[in-house]
Parts: sequence; C-alpha cells; structure tokens
Amino acid sequence: MNTFTYSYPTKVYFGEKAAKNSLPAELKKVGKNVMLAYGGGSIKKNGVYDELMGILKAAGKNVTEFSGIMSNPTYNKVQQGAQLAKKNSVDFILAVGGGSVIDCCKVISAQAKISDDLWTFETEKHGSPSEFIPMGAVVTAFGTGAEMNNGAVITHEEKKIKGALWGAFYSFAILDPVYTMTMPLRQVISGSFDALSHCMETYMGTPRKTNLSDEINEACQRNIIRNLRATLNEPQDTAARSELIWAAAMAENGILKIGKITDFQAHMLEHQLGAYTNCNHGEGLAVIHPVLYRHMLPKAQAQFARLAVNVWGISPYGKSESRLAEEFINTLSDFIKEVGLPAKFSEMGIADDADYKAIADSTVLTAGCCKEFTKEELLEVLNECR
Ligand code: NZQ
Ligand code: ZN
Repeated sequence: MNTFTYSYPTKVYFGEKAAKNSLPAELKKVGKNVMLAYGGGSIKKNGVYDELMGILKAAGKNVTEFSGIMSNPTYNKVQQGAQLAKKNSVDFILAVGGGSVIDCCKVISAQAKISDDLWTFETEKHGSPSEFIPMGAVVTAFGTGAEMNNGAVITHEEKKIKGALWGAFYSFAILDPVYTMTMPLRQVISGSFDALSHCMETYMGTPRKTNLSDEINEACQRNIIRNLRATLNEPQDTAARSELIWAAAMAENGILKIGKITDFQAHMLEHQLGAYTNCNHGEGLAVIHPVLYRHMLPKAQAQFARLAVNVWGISPYGKSESRLAEEFINTLSDFIKEVGLPAKFSEMGIADDADYKAIADSTVLTAGCCKEFTKEELLEVLNECR
C-alpha cells in the first residue's frame, strides 16, 4: 500500500430534517452576513428555499442571495459571486444545490479572499489559496460527491477549458434525502452513473492489486447498481435514494482513494467534451466509459476481470481472465442501456461536427491510468462515441 495521511474536515448531517436539526447550531458559529447561493430555481419550487430562509432569518442573519448558478458553472459566474461576497462582506456561504452550485461556491470562497485572478494564480503560478470564506453545503442533487471534497470543476469559457480549481472544504454538509426527491429522473440516473464512474476511475488507478480501498470500492459499486435499479422500479423509494446519496458521497470523499493514485482518464475526456458542448456530465461519462475501456482492455484485464466477478456477479468458472474482462465491458454497456443512459454522443444531442480534435488535444493525460493514451488515440475514442 502507498504511504498516506488521512483526516476529514467536513462534518456530515445525514437524514430527514437534517437542516432543521443541525443548521441553527452551525449558524451560531459563523458571522452575521450569509450568502445563500443556489441554481436556477428548483429550490423555490420544492420548498427548500423557504425552509432554509426561515432558519437563516430565525438565526438573525443578513442574507445576500446569489442565484442562477448554472450546470457546468463558469469562471465568469465565480467572479460575479466573489465580487458580491466582497461587496457585502460575506462571512459565510451556504451553498444549496448539486455539484454545480457546490463547486462554484468553493471557488468563490477562495477568490473573494485574494486580489489575484484565481485561475492564473492556481494554474499558471501554481499557487494554493490559503484563506477562504467558511462554507456549508446543502445537497439537493446527489452524484458528484462535491460536498465532501475541495476540488471544483469550473468551465473557463474563453479558454475552452473545464478544469479543476482547488477551493475550501465545506465545514459541514447536509444530506437530506427528502430534498433530493424532486430531482428529475434523468438527473438521478446521470448522477448515479457519475458516482459509479468515480468508483471505477478510482479502482482503475494504481496500485492494481486488490487492497482494502478497492474492496470497499467494490461494495460501493454494487450498492449504486442495486439502488439505481430499485429507484427506477420505484422513483420515490427513499431507502434506495438514501443509499445512493451516501454511496455518491463515499465515492468522492477520499476513502476509496486511500493509498491509491487514481485513473480519471474518462473524466478528463468528459470534462473537455463539456467545455466544448456544455453536455450533462454523467451522460457524457456513460458514453465514454465502455469505449475507453475497450481501448484499455489489454492493459486492464486483471482489474476488469475482478470487477466482472466481484461487482457484476459474473460467474468465473471455466473462463479466462481476458474473457471475463470482455464480459465486464459488455455488461457495463448493457447496464448503461438498461437504465436509459445514452450510448452515443448523438443521443445526447451533441452535434456531429463538434470540434473533437480540439477536445482530444486539450484533454489532460492522467498519471494513474494503466494505459498511456496519446491525443491521437483519445480522438479515436471520441470518434467511436459519436
Ligand atoms: O439549477 P436548479 O434549478 O437547482 O436545477 C438543477 C440543475 O438543473 C437540478 N436540481 C438540483 N437539485 C434539484 C434539482 N431539480 C429538482 N429538484 C432538486 N432537488 O439538477 C440540475 C443539475 O444540477 P447540477 O448541480 O448541475 O448537477 P450535478 O450535481 O451533476 O453537478 C454537475 C457538475 O459537477 C461537476 C461536473 O463536472 C459538473 O460541472 N463535478 C464535480 C465533482 C467534484 N467537485 O467532486 C466531481 C464530478 O466528477 C464532476 O466533474
Ligand atoms: Zn464525475
């Protein structure tokens, strides 16, 4: 096992009425000026806004609202939020939404504390922000696990890069399954696949021999597959929803990554696809995964064969490792179709004349992947996904 240090800064309040039960005490620890950040308005339709605003007002806070955070949040939106936070001397940010709102606020919390342009500071000067506006997250859409890590995926529209910026950890995250029950089913499915992808991308990293992190990871994958099927059977099944929310948080809270260098090549490719097409993250991953995995097959045989048996329950008897590895990719592909995810970019509405060459050329090649991809081969992968 690789050397590691483990500690966790985010306190999780999980369960029904978690906001009512935990937020008043958390708000006592922070200053008076609170920014309530959210997306396009789903929280106003499902009652979450009214409930949280009531708690904030009862706590005597001055509330600054920052709304309209879009899916695949842009760097320009981050700058607007940071300016507003500075102007109103915001002491604390309450981010309410899915991965997009939660990520956007991580970067706002850092940008509001420095005069440098954060993108230049982090990506060109290789600086790490050290001061942040403290934050809490209220999860209304699960999948990314963004509430439990300090990476933020932000689209720089002018540079055409969807990349990671490092912000703060949330001091707490509220995960109330009831808050997610109004998610569109399409988002439930794509969020669940995103979480499954995080597990697989971590599993496919190094070291490649079985270890505790991977065994916990296999359990998370089984859980996501089982509970997504249960949800499709009964969309309002709160028990299945609760499992999915926690599995998604587990997939990105670092526990599965302990002692590993992760792969995340599929993610790097999908992020650039997103930079050029503004597509849905989980759906882009669903198209890319089986195609990319066929390219990785010769190098990834042992791990794929383990996933076939330990996650998908495929019988190993009388089968070679290479056959099991192929069966894994076929089964993953079938599952993607079974749950209604797209298998081609065309099914996602991505134009056939998207600039696939630029997408491949701008994709980061990852260190943990068992295969060293070239930009040319990534272009082949993209063309096979069309
Ligand atoms: O904006 P509103 O009106 O709130 O609607 C949202 C949005 O349209 C809606 N929604 C959220 N909660 C709802 C709801 N609708 C009804 N009822 C509710 N309770 O759902 C839509 C999608 O939300 P969004 O936050 O965009 O989705 P997701 O959680 O999938 O986040 C995607 C972003 O996260 C990044 C992705 O790249 C993408 O930018 N990721 C962040 C990661 C991280 N920080 O760890 C890891 C991931 O790999 C990913 O890259
Ligand atoms: Zn993801």
